[in-house]
Amino acid sequence: VGYVGTPGTGAALEVVVDGLARLEYRGYDSAGVALVGPDGGLEVRKKAGKLVNLRDLLEASPLPPSATGIGHTRWATHGGPTDVNAHPHLAGEGEDEVAVIHNGIIENFAALRAELAAAGVTPVSETDTEIAAHVLARELGRVREGGQTGAEALTEAVRRTCRRLEGAFTLLAVRAHEPGTVVGARRSSPLVVGLGDGETFLGSDVAAFISRTRSALALGQDEVVTITADGAAITTFDGEPVEGSPFHVDWDVAAAEKGGYPSFMAKEIDEQPRAVADTLLGRSDEQGRLVLDEVRIPTEELAAVDKVVVISCGTSSYAGQVAKYAVEHWCRIPVEVEYAHEFRYRDPVVDERTLVVSISQSGETMDTLMAVRHARELGARTLSICNTNGATIPRESDAVLYTHAGPEIAVASTKAFLAQITACYLLGLYLGRLRGTASAELVKEVLTELHAMPEKVQTVLDGLDRVREIARFMADSRSVLFLGRHVGYPVALEGALKLKELAYIHAEGFAAGELKHGPIALIEAGQPVFVVVPPPSSPHGLHGKVVSNIQEIRARGARTLVIAEEGDEGVAPFAEEVISVPACPPLLMPLLTVVPLQVFAAELAAAKGLDVDQPRNLAKSVTVE
Ligand code: G6P
Repeated sequence: VGYVGTPGTGAALEVVVDGLARLEYRGYDSAGVALVGPDGGLEVRKKAGKLVNLRDLLEASPLPPSATGIGHTRWATHGGPTDVNAHPHLAGEGEDEVAVIHNGIIENFAALRAELAAAGVTPVSETDTEIAAHVLARELGRVREGGQTGAEALTEAVRRTCRRLEGAFTLLAVRAHEPGTVVGARRSSPLVVGLGDGETFLGSDVAAFISRTRSALALGQDEVVTITADGAAITTFDGEPVEGSPFHVDWDVAAAEKGGYPSFMAKEIDEQPRAVADTLLGRSDEQGRLVLDEVRIPTEELAAVDKVVVISCGTSSYAGQVAKYAVEHWCRIPVEVEYAHEFRYRDPVVDERTLVVSISQSGETMDTLMAVRHARELGARTLSICNTNGATIPRESDAVLYTHAGPEIAVASTKAFLAQITACYLLGLYLGRLRGTASAELVKEVLTELHAMPEKVQTVLDGLDRVREIARFMADSRSVLFLGRHVGYPVALEGALKLKELAYIHAEGFAAGELKHGPIALIEAGQPVFVVVPPPSSPHGLHGKVVSNIQEIRARGARTLVIAEEGDEGVAPFAEEVISVPACPPLLMPLLTVVPLQVFAAELAAAKGLDVDQPRNLAKSVTVE
């Protein structure tokens, strides 16, 4: 977060710490602030651990009022989460003294460190950020020697520094002798500007300032921004002036607050019916034609696509796996689903007839962004399914289909996942129509079913008391397995991921059919196994096959916790617990069957006394590769 208010006012600390609180989901290994005094001088406070530790430090060691400040919460890359490694980092002396915060990884930091060492500079921390701060201080000295002064000197020094840095980064810098100015820069890592009335903000995302302004500017790649109380001036790393892209933030502040819930996760799980409904809203007309937000891919090109590749990470990648089943079924086109970080570093067979669909809640995940760029270089058409308006991935893609889940703050994804799956169905139907493989009637039918899903998700949410009870009984579990088949397979994977992320319990998801080829060796007496059962109406006798799988593990002593369609009599005899969900077409089942698994993981984590919103070691938006 960066902030400049009107000179003489003293809101910087409050605004910066409030902004950090809203961005803490991005990382919480340590937190720190730097303020520039009204007459110059830098004051820094920083502390390892969550933001509350910094707040305590600020109480014990208060800072004088100031109108200019920067603040950071860290997700450690170079150097452990200690006080010394926390940002901001100071460098330089006298006129050249600066404080710097940074997201990303500076890949040539070892070379820069060696260069600094040769010049007699000894860093106090292990971070790449401090190296960047020293480079900046030295560049500032050179710029000043060249005769430049004031805010322009700091801006030019930041530009020169950025030209020397390799990797992906967002940097914010203040100078001891320059109250009223913060300079920011970005390469492949997010930074947005907030334009207030007599105050200007910088943030990794708009959540940092939505309580004070809705008016924002997006920065492009390799750009530097200088903010003062009056506004922002943007240039490229080479000093060419550029206009930022203005946008209005329509998320309201309440949406980014807990609103009486014990955690963001509890709130977000509850908001899922609305996330699905809002993602469907206005997306189709009577004929079942999909309306994309920003169509920059001509329909002839989309119709000619002969392969779809879905790239994403984490929970988003499981939405991608659901997409495979739906798109192949409706479009008769091969769909490959791959982790973005794997796609990026192999030699994928992709050309201009390939549609590369990226799925990302944040739109900033570095692995996914790099994969999208790679796909574009290979000539593919790129479409982004994203929950964050104006984020980098949709801006760098040919087309975007926004999910409308609203701000998701809890680190582990829930409502965005349901919205992503919904968007994948819409995309599948759209492509199916374009290609002529899905009839207008079929599309209409599926859309009717989709519009009924929010109410069914609500029914699932309303009936989860028993799941909560089971979760509390199972708080001591050491390992839980999840089985699924067809679209239930990605649901099993997501159920296992949620449990790992939230409750730190070893969990694995398997394709139920694979069980007998290995994983069944894990089954011993008392082993809890969740099984996501396809509805009895599923084609190819799939239901019966999964019921057999349940029998196989039950016979070996497993505790079987079964998620099945209501009225499914076939599973009851082999299930220790049956969790019922309303009936719906088999392909749409993930929207319902994943919900009990989310609630199970969240409840179990809460029973263990863990912080469900900010699990250890994780960050919501991972902007490093
Ligand atoms: C991080 C989060 C996960 C998320 C993944 C992908 O690892 O902890 O919850 O699923 O990133 O994020 P994205 O914003 O690209 O969907």
